[in-house]
Amino acid sequence: MSAIGVFDSGVGGLTVAAALERRLPAESILYLGDTARLPYGTKSAATVSRYTRRNVSFLLERGVKAVVVACNTASALALPYLHPDEWGVPVCGVIEPGAEQAARASRGRVGVIATESTVHSGAYAEAIHRHGAGLEVRSVACPLFVSLVEEGWQDDPITAEVARRYLAPLREEGVDTLVLGCTHYPLLRPLLQETMGPGVALIDSAEAVAAEVAAVLGGLGLLAAERREESHFCFTDDNVRFQRLARAILGREDLSLELVDVS
Ligand code: DGL
Repeated sequence: MSAIGVFDSGVGGLTVAAALERRLPAESILYLGDTARLPYGTKSAATVSRYTRRNVSFLLERGVKAVVVACNTASALALPYLHPDEWGVPVCGVIEPGAEQAARASRGRVGVIATESTVHSGAYAEAIHRHGAGLEVRSVACPLFVSLVEEGWQDDPITAEVARRYLAPLREEGVDTLVLGCTHYPLLRPLLQETMGPGVALIDSAEAVAAEVAAVLGGLGLLAAERREESHFCFTDDNVRFQRLARAILGREDLSLELVDVS
Protein backbone atom coordinates (compact mmCIF):
# COMPACT_ATOMS: atom_id res chain seq x y z
CA MET A 1 0.00 0.00 0.00
CA SER A 2 1.53 3.35 -1.01
CA ALA A 3 2.19 6.49 1.00
CA ILE A 4 0.05 9.59 1.58
CA GLY A 5 1.60 12.55 -0.26
CA VAL A 6 1.73 15.84 1.63
CA PHE A 7 3.18 19.12 0.42
CA ASP A 8 3.77 22.67 1.58
CA SER A 9 6.07 25.49 0.56
CA GLY A 10 8.30 24.73 3.56
CA VAL A 11 8.19 23.24 7.03
CA GLY A 12 4.66 24.44 7.92
CA GLY A 13 2.96 21.41 6.39
CA LEU A 14 4.92 19.21 8.76
CA THR A 15 2.34 20.21 11.40
CA VAL A 16 -0.21 18.42 9.18
CA ALA A 17 2.15 15.48 8.54
CA ALA A 18 2.61 15.10 12.30
CA ALA A 19 -1.18 15.10 12.84
CA LEU A 20 -1.54 12.44 10.11
CA GLU A 21 1.13 10.27 11.74
CA ARG A 22 -0.67 10.54 15.12
CA ARG A 23 -4.10 9.77 13.64
CA LEU A 24 -3.01 7.09 11.16
CA PRO A 25 0.10 5.40 12.61
CA ALA A 26 -0.01 2.59 10.05
CA GLU A 27 0.41 5.03 7.16
CA SER A 28 3.65 6.36 5.79
CA ILE A 29 3.97 9.92 4.54
CA LEU A 30 5.83 11.20 1.50
CA TYR A 31 6.40 14.89 2.27
CA LEU A 32 7.51 17.60 -0.12
CA GLY A 33 8.66 20.97 1.23
CA ASP A 34 9.17 23.34 -1.70
CA THR A 35 11.79 25.34 0.19
CA ALA A 36 13.46 26.60 -3.00
CA ARG A 37 10.33 28.56 -3.97
CA LEU A 38 9.09 29.59 -0.52
CA PRO A 39 7.22 31.81 0.24
CA TYR A 40 4.06 31.07 -1.71
CA GLY A 41 2.03 33.52 0.33
CA THR A 42 3.22 36.63 -1.49
CA LYS A 43 2.82 35.15 -4.99
CA SER A 44 0.02 35.36 -7.57
CA ALA A 45 -2.66 32.73 -8.06
CA ALA A 46 -1.16 31.79 -11.44
CA THR A 47 2.29 31.15 -9.94
CA VAL A 48 0.99 29.25 -6.91
CA SER A 49 -1.21 27.12 -9.20
CA ARG A 50 1.79 26.29 -11.40
CA TYR A 51 3.89 25.28 -8.36
CA THR A 52 0.99 23.27 -6.96
CA ARG A 53 0.59 21.29 -10.19
CA ARG A 54 4.28 20.47 -10.22
CA ASN A 55 4.20 19.39 -6.59
CA VAL A 56 1.15 17.17 -7.10
CA SER A 57 2.75 15.64 -10.22
CA PHE A 58 5.95 14.93 -8.29
CA LEU A 59 4.03 13.13 -5.53
CA LEU A 60 1.95 11.16 -8.07
CA GLU A 61 5.08 10.09 -9.96
CA ARG A 62 6.28 8.61 -6.67
CA GLY A 63 3.02 6.63 -6.51
CA VAL A 64 1.12 8.23 -3.59
CA LYS A 65 -2.47 7.09 -3.00
CA ALA A 66 -3.74 10.54 -1.90
CA VAL A 67 -2.48 14.12 -1.82
CA VAL A 68 -2.86 16.52 1.10
CA VAL A 69 -2.31 20.15 0.16
CA ALA A 70 -0.87 21.14 3.56
CA CYS A 71 -0.53 24.77 2.55
CA ASN A 72 -3.38 27.24 2.99
CA THR A 73 -2.13 29.45 0.17
CA ALA A 74 -2.12 26.57 -2.32
CA SER A 75 -5.46 25.30 -0.94
CA ALA A 76 -7.02 28.75 -1.39
CA LEU A 77 -5.54 29.68 -4.77
CA ALA A 78 -4.97 26.43 -6.63
CA LEU A 79 -7.10 23.66 -5.12
CA PRO A 80 -10.39 24.87 -6.64
CA TYR A 81 -8.81 24.20 -10.06
CA LEU A 82 -7.39 20.75 -9.25
CA HIS A 83 -10.24 18.48 -10.16
CA PRO A 84 -9.99 15.06 -8.47
CA ASP A 85 -10.79 13.22 -11.73
CA GLU A 86 -7.79 14.85 -13.32
CA TRP A 87 -5.40 13.23 -10.83
CA GLY A 88 -7.04 9.91 -10.13
CA VAL A 89 -6.40 10.08 -6.35
CA PRO A 90 -8.19 11.99 -3.57
CA VAL A 91 -6.82 15.51 -3.04
CA CYS A 92 -7.57 17.21 0.33
CA GLY A 93 -6.94 20.83 1.29
CA VAL A 94 -6.77 22.60 4.65
CA ILE A 95 -9.24 25.51 4.30
CA GLU A 96 -12.54 23.64 4.47
CA PRO A 97 -11.82 21.64 7.66
CA GLY A 98 -10.45 24.76 9.42
CA ALA A 99 -13.42 26.91 8.39
CA GLU A 100 -15.88 24.28 9.58
CA GLN A 101 -14.15 24.02 12.98
CA ALA A 102 -14.07 27.80 13.37
CA ALA A 103 -17.78 28.15 12.57
CA ARG A 104 -18.53 25.52 15.22
CA ALA A 105 -16.33 27.18 17.85
CA SER A 106 -17.30 30.84 17.37
CA ARG A 107 -19.94 32.81 19.27
CA GLY A 108 -20.03 35.59 16.64
CA ARG A 109 -16.66 37.04 15.58
CA VAL A 110 -13.95 35.08 13.85
CA GLY A 111 -10.47 36.37 13.13
CA VAL A 112 -8.38 34.77 10.38
CA ILE A 113 -4.63 35.21 10.12
CA ALA A 114 -2.98 34.00 6.93
CA THR A 115 -0.58 34.93 4.16
CA GLU A 116 -1.36 37.91 1.94
CA SER A 117 -2.45 35.71 -0.95
CA THR A 118 -4.78 33.62 1.22
CA VAL A 119 -6.36 36.75 2.73
CA HIS A 120 -6.84 38.34 -0.70
CA SER A 121 -8.43 35.18 -2.05
CA GLY A 122 -11.28 35.52 0.47
CA ALA A 123 -11.37 31.70 0.68
CA TYR A 124 -11.65 31.53 4.49
CA ALA A 125 -14.35 34.19 4.82
CA GLU A 126 -16.37 32.45 2.11
CA ALA A 127 -16.00 28.99 3.69
CA ILE A 128 -16.71 30.25 7.25
CA HIS A 129 -19.88 32.02 6.06
CA ARG A 130 -20.97 28.82 4.34
CA HIS A 131 -20.71 26.96 7.67
CA GLY A 132 -21.97 29.81 9.89
CA ALA A 133 -24.08 32.35 8.00
CA GLY A 134 -24.32 35.04 10.71
CA LEU A 135 -20.65 35.11 11.71
CA GLU A 136 -18.49 38.20 11.27
CA VAL A 137 -15.08 37.45 9.79
CA ARG A 138 -12.06 39.76 9.92
CA SER A 139 -8.89 38.64 8.13
CA VAL A 140 -5.37 39.96 8.68
CA ALA A 141 -2.28 39.08 6.60
CA CYS A 142 0.78 38.25 8.70
CA PRO A 143 3.50 37.72 6.08
CA LEU A 144 6.48 38.01 8.44
CA PHE A 145 5.39 35.02 10.52
CA VAL A 146 6.50 32.55 7.82
CA SER A 147 10.07 33.92 7.72
CA LEU A 148 10.26 34.06 11.52
CA VAL A 149 9.19 30.41 11.79
CA GLU A 150 11.53 29.29 9.00
CA GLU A 151 14.29 31.18 10.87
CA GLY A 152 13.42 29.20 14.02
CA TRP A 153 12.59 32.37 16.01
CA GLN A 154 9.41 31.08 17.64
CA ASP A 155 10.49 32.26 21.10
CA ASP A 156 12.23 35.49 20.13
CA PRO A 157 11.13 38.89 21.54
CA ILE A 158 11.06 40.24 17.96
CA THR A 159 8.44 37.66 17.03
CA ALA A 160 6.39 38.61 20.12
CA GLU A 161 6.47 42.28 19.05
CA VAL A 162 5.47 41.39 15.48
CA ALA A 163 2.58 39.31 16.84
CA ARG A 164 1.38 42.23 19.01
CA ARG A 165 1.36 44.54 15.96
CA TYR A 166 -0.39 42.10 13.63
CA LEU A 167 -3.01 40.94 16.13
CA ALA A 168 -3.90 44.37 17.59
CA PRO A 169 -6.87 44.98 15.25
CA LEU A 170 -8.29 41.54 16.00
CA ARG A 171 -7.97 42.10 19.75
CA GLU A 172 -9.65 45.51 19.42
CA GLU A 173 -12.54 43.97 17.53
CA GLY A 174 -12.96 41.31 20.19
CA VAL A 175 -12.81 38.19 18.04
CA ASP A 176 -13.63 35.08 20.08
CA THR A 177 -12.03 32.60 17.67
CA LEU A 178 -8.79 32.86 15.69
CA VAL A 179 -8.09 30.67 12.68
CA LEU A 180 -4.40 29.90 12.15
CA GLY A 181 -4.82 30.09 8.37
CA CYS A 182 -1.26 29.18 7.45
CA THR A 183 0.34 25.85 8.31
CA HIS A 184 3.41 27.65 9.67
CA TYR A 185 1.40 29.45 12.36
CA PRO A 186 0.68 26.51 14.72
CA LEU A 187 4.42 26.62 15.45
CA LEU A 188 3.73 30.02 17.05
CA ARG A 189 0.71 28.78 18.95
CA PRO A 190 1.80 29.54 22.55
CA LEU A 191 2.78 33.09 21.56
CA LEU A 192 -0.44 33.66 19.60
CA GLN A 193 -2.56 32.38 22.50
CA GLU A 194 -0.71 34.62 24.94
CA THR A 195 -1.13 37.64 22.65
CA MET A 196 -4.86 37.06 22.05
CA GLY A 197 -5.62 36.08 25.66
CA PRO A 198 -7.00 32.84 27.13
CA GLY A 199 -10.63 33.50 26.11
CA VAL A 200 -9.92 33.23 22.37
CA ALA A 201 -10.17 29.77 20.76
CA LEU A 202 -7.31 29.07 18.34
CA ILE A 203 -8.18 26.87 15.36
CA ASP A 204 -5.44 24.76 13.78
CA SER A 205 -6.89 22.67 10.97
CA ALA A 206 -4.19 19.95 11.11
CA GLU A 207 -6.23 17.55 13.27
CA ALA A 208 -9.40 18.19 11.24
CA VAL A 209 -7.53 17.52 7.99
CA ALA A 210 -6.15 14.27 9.41
CA ALA A 211 -9.69 13.21 10.35
CA GLU A 212 -10.89 14.01 6.82
CA VAL A 213 -8.07 12.06 5.20
CA ALA A 214 -8.85 9.08 7.47
CA ALA A 215 -12.53 9.24 6.46
CA VAL A 216 -11.78 9.60 2.73
CA LEU A 217 -9.22 6.76 2.62
CA GLY A 218 -11.42 4.58 4.85
CA GLY A 219 -14.38 5.16 2.51
CA LEU A 220 -12.28 4.06 -0.48
CA GLY A 221 -10.83 1.03 1.33
CA LEU A 222 -7.35 2.53 0.99
CA LEU A 223 -6.22 2.58 4.63
CA ALA A 224 -3.04 0.63 5.35
CA ALA A 225 -3.34 -2.24 7.82
CA GLU A 226 0.26 -2.01 8.91
CA ARG A 227 3.22 0.24 8.29
CA ARG A 228 5.43 -1.07 5.48
CA GLU A 229 7.90 1.78 5.05
CA GLU A 230 9.18 4.81 6.94
CA SER A 231 7.92 8.28 6.11
CA HIS A 232 10.18 10.15 3.70
CA PHE A 233 10.80 13.90 3.56
CA CYS A 234 11.82 15.69 0.36
CA PHE A 235 12.80 19.33 0.03
CA THR A 236 13.77 21.42 -2.97
CA ASP A 237 16.58 23.51 -1.51
CA ASP A 238 19.52 22.12 0.36
CA ASN A 239 19.37 24.02 3.62
CA VAL A 240 20.21 22.76 7.07
CA ARG A 241 17.42 24.86 8.50
CA PHE A 242 14.73 22.66 6.92
CA GLN A 243 16.37 19.58 8.38
CA ARG A 244 16.71 21.09 11.86
CA LEU A 245 13.11 22.34 11.94
CA ALA A 246 11.77 19.08 10.50
CA ARG A 247 13.44 17.13 13.31
CA ALA A 248 12.06 19.54 15.91
CA ILE A 249 8.49 19.53 14.54
CA LEU A 250 8.28 15.76 14.06
CA GLY A 251 10.05 15.09 17.37
CA ARG A 252 12.61 12.59 16.08
CA GLU A 253 16.20 12.69 14.91
CA ASP A 254 16.37 9.89 12.35
CA LEU A 255 14.49 11.27 9.36
CA SER A 256 14.72 9.92 5.84
CA LEU A 257 15.54 13.11 3.88
CA GLU A 258 16.10 13.78 0.19
CA LEU A 259 16.93 16.86 -1.89
CA VAL A 260 14.77 16.86 -5.05
CA ASP A 261 14.18 19.02 -8.12
CA VAL A 262 10.54 19.54 -9.05
CA SER A 263 11.05 22.49 -11.43
N1 DGL B 1 2.50 27.36 4.89
C1 DGL B 1 1.92 28.13 3.84
C2 DGL B 1 0.43 28.30 4.07
O1 DGL B 1 -0.16 27.51 4.80
C3 DGL B 1 2.47 29.51 3.61
C4 DGL B 1 3.91 29.74 3.65
C5 DGL B 1 4.35 30.54 2.45
O2 DGL B 1 4.06 31.75 2.35
O3 DGL B 1 4.94 29.92 1.60
O4 DGL B 1 -0.17 29.20 3.54
